[in-house]
Order: sequence, then C-alpha cells, then structure tokens
Amino acid sequence: MTRFIAPSILSANFLDLRKDIEMINQSNAHWIHYDVMDGVFVPNISFGLPILKQISSIAQKPLDVHLMIANPDQYITAFKDAGAANITVHIETCPHLNRTINFIKEQGLMASVCLNPHTPIEMLEEIIQDIDMVLIMSVNPGFGGQLFIESTYRKIGKLKKMILDKNLKTLIEVDGGVNFETGKKLFEAGANVLVSGSFIFHSDNPTKRIDDLLSV
Ligand code: DX5
Ligand code: ZN
Repeated sequence: MTRFIAPSILSANFLDLRKDIEMINQSNAHWIHYDVMDGVFVPNISFGLPILKQISSIAQKPLDVHLMIANPDQYITAFKDAGAANITVHIETCPHLNRTINFIKEQGLMASVCLNPHTPIEMLEEIIQDIDMVLIMSVNPGFGGQLFIESTYRKIGKLKKMILDKNLKTLIEVDGGVNFETGKKLFEAGANVLVSGSFIFHSDNPTKRIDDLLSV
C-alpha cells in the first residue's frame, strides 16, 4: 500500500525557507504540501503564486497544492505555471466540480478533491471515478497546529470502502493534526498520504520525524 509523507510548509521558517525546502529535498518525504488560503473560504491568508514559483525552482519533490480559496477555477493555469504537480480543490468551493476536475487534468496535472470535516463521503459518489486523490480534512482548514478530529478514522473507513467497491485506485490523503499516534491510526484506517506541518517543522530533527512517521 502506498505510504507517502507530504510536509506542509505552512509551518516552515519563512525567513529561511530555502533551508526547509532543502531539508525536504534531502529527506524521505514524497511531496511538498503547499497551503493556499484566501481569507474568504477560510479565515486566514497564507501565500500564493510568486512564492510557489520560487520554491519550484529549487524543489526536487512534486508540489502538492491545496487550494483553500473561493473560485479556484480561475487560478488553475496560474498554479500550473507556478509549478504545481497536484491541485486539490475543496468540494465546498466548486459548484461545477466535474468541469473543474476535467480542466485540472487537461493541464496534465494530478486532480484531487478535498472534503471539510462536516462534508460527508457520499458527496464523492459521482466524482470519485474521475479523480486521483481525495484529501480528507482532519481539522477545520485555515491554521496549522490544531487538534485532530477523531471522527476522521470512521470517515476514512467509509471512503476506503467506496474506493474498493468501485474497484478504483484513488489515493486517500489526510491533513491536520497528524502526529505519530494519529498517523499510525490513519495509515491503519487506509490513508495513503499524510500531510504534516507543525509536527515535522516544530521539532529539533524534522528529517527524523519524517522517517518515523513513515514507519509508524
Ligand atoms: C490546514 C492546512 C494544513 C496544515 C496542517 O488548513 O491545510 O496543511 O498545514 O498543519 P498541522 O500538521 O500542524 O495540523
Ligand atoms: Zn493543507
């Protein structure tokens, strides 16, 4: 089973970002998770296109872009040009999700859909066959360092069943409050990709945290 780690640079040291990107390059992490927040869909503002473009010039791992923004459709080509490998849109922001997903795939990118904690798995019923990955939020999006929502395990179980019943290969990524304890249970529940921000970066040895998360 695929087990990937995607460090979220929302918790990186922005005054020394090159050092943190190089740490990820040298580590066993698989992707770099990039959280874009617009202050409209979520109550926080993070970073956007120019910083992604600079990161992509030194990143040796695929850039996993998580768009927590209203009207994501109008920025997809710009994020592609800035270096995104995967684009994740929130189901709550996309009234024409089929069109949005098709457009992301037409750009040659991996296309993923994210669900907020209150959004049921059943919402994916008519789209799951068209996407590469589902991102399950295990906190309310907007901030790093929040407490993990326990009902996430049950939600992953339901999603895994939907994927297996339909004979699909869709990846399951989980974002928010990931640490050794939650990470172990998430992999056991069927998650494939763990996003982790504060647990990796607010540590004396981020590289080891990545290795230890991979082998929980
Ligand atoms: C939250 C972001 C997360 C965040 C996770 O809205 O989508 O990617 O960086 O942070 P931690 O791992 O600290 O909960
Ligand atoms: Zn994220």
